[in-house]
Amino acid sequence: MAHIYEEVSRTFNEYLLIPGLTTKGCQPARVSLSTPLVRFRKGEEPALSLNIPFVSAIMQSVSDHRMAIALARNGGLSFVFTSQAIDTQAEMVRRVKKFKAGFVVSDANLKPDQTLADVLVLRDLTGHSTIGVTEDGSPNGKLLGLVTSRDYRIAVDGRDKKILEFMTPFSRLITGKLGVSLTEANDIIWEHKLNCLPIIDEDQRLQYFVFRKDYDEHQEHPREVLDINKRLLVGAGINSRDYRERVPKLVEAGVDVLCIDSSDGYSEWQAETLQWVKHHYPDVPVGAGNVVDKEGFLYLVEAGADFVKVGIGGGSICITREQKGIGRGQATSLIDVSQARDEYFRTKGVYVPICSDGGIVQDYHMVLALAMGADFIMMGRYFARFDESPTKKLLVGNNYVKEYWGEGSSRARNWQRYDMGGSDSLKFEEGVDSYVPYAGKLKDNLDVTLAKIVSTMCSCGATTIPELKEKSKITLVSSTSIIEGGAHDVILKESNI
Ligand code: IMP
Repeated sequence: MAHIYEEVSRTFNEYLLIPGLTTKGCQPARVSLSTPLVRFRKGEEPALSLNIPFVSAIMQSVSDHRMAIALARNGGLSFVFTSQAIDTQAEMVRRVKKFKAGFVVSDANLKPDQTLADVLVLRDLTGHSTIGVTEDGSPNGKLLGLVTSRDYRIAVDGRDKKILEFMTPFSRLITGKLGVSLTEANDIIWEHKLNCLPIIDEDQRLQYFVFRKDYDEHQEHPREVLDINKRLLVGAGINSRDYRERVPKLVEAGVDVLCIDSSDGYSEWQAETLQWVKHHYPDVPVGAGNVVDKEGFLYLVEAGADFVKVGIGGGSICITREQKGIGRGQATSLIDVSQARDEYFRTKGVYVPICSDGGIVQDYHMVLALAMGADFIMMGRYFARFDESPTKKLLVGNNYVKEYWGEGSSRARNWQRYDMGGSDSLKFEEGVDSYVPYAGKLKDNLDVTLAKIVSTMCSCGATTIPELKEKSKITLVSSTSIIEGGAHDVILKESNI
């Protein structure tokens, strides 16, 4: 006879927090949002922590190198999507590790025998007017010159004019040597009245550009998460099929943490993947999931998972529950798994962080997830709305939107995420292709979201996430009290709608 759970499977919307005593010490400026990313023993520090409890979803439409850089600079972490060729994923990881505040890696350069027409095409494509001229035209090729908009006049110079004839040649360029600090680079820029300083290695190969305007940028990111070499932290998704080839390339590119990306992680495939990574790369942490109950959590923990992701079917683009009838309300899953995590810590002295994945709609859902036991939260829809996500911004009707599609949609073709290990060709989709409202810059939105979280924590009398977990008082709400919680019984002015 099947096991029938007695409790209902519930979502975040069905809960609220009841304020605790806000002491005078509970001030927003004193709240710390730092949280462990990977397992640690009692009394020890985790090898990796985040400064804000957010990670971006392992999805094509969310986490590429640009999102990873922006999020790590703001205290969180991205897992670069795995539904792509191994080399391109490794390249994205490499670009994050190479990122240095104020040091811009060129996307595309040109060769000296190309023409002004090529310059104009590239300028329109990238929006950059400074173009490196390298021997083979590659981003890191040997630097032979520089072209800026001051080097040509379209009306006078023919479009067929060779770059060689109008570029500033290397012999007349001021350059910086690889290893120069941002302050030193800026001193050179000011001393020589430059707009841009190319940075080259000992073989004259182009590494970065430093632009005059970027000078103050690095001071705006006090939360950024860095490794011991002061490089940004980055994660990457892997799957339980090609990990023997993929993991070595990601590690070589400098990845800090891996995560097996699967909609249902309670499987022998995941245990095998975890054991292989642990055996070959014992120093590279790897998370696993997704699970929705205690059994799934303990299985992955025993197999070596450094964190476990919780959630099946709650993602905004997810139709898994409709298609397969598996899943569990996100709040109930979290509460169940958190209890198992705490029990494991009590009995074994090992703390394995859990990540609440999917289904966050309101900012207050994030605080609820943390209060219910999540150590950090994975979000797709939230991040997909920002400038930094990889997808196109479009005008639909009168509104700007960004594209957002599920990894289980036919657009992403990430069948490995949904494949249980048997056949290669899944026959149905588990995700949809959609739009989300465009919301602007990541940092601007994050600042508002974090302000709300911090404020709620103060209301609950907590200045750290562990304290929030301990002190929170959580109540179920009736459907009629949800109506009471919004603006009601007033006629809203148009500016509110
Ligand atoms: P969101 O933050 O509610 O948009 O949920 C994002 C999460 O949905 C991801 O982190 C994945 O766990 C999950 N997900 C991504 N793509 C799909 C899909 O195609 N079907 C089901 N779940 C998906």
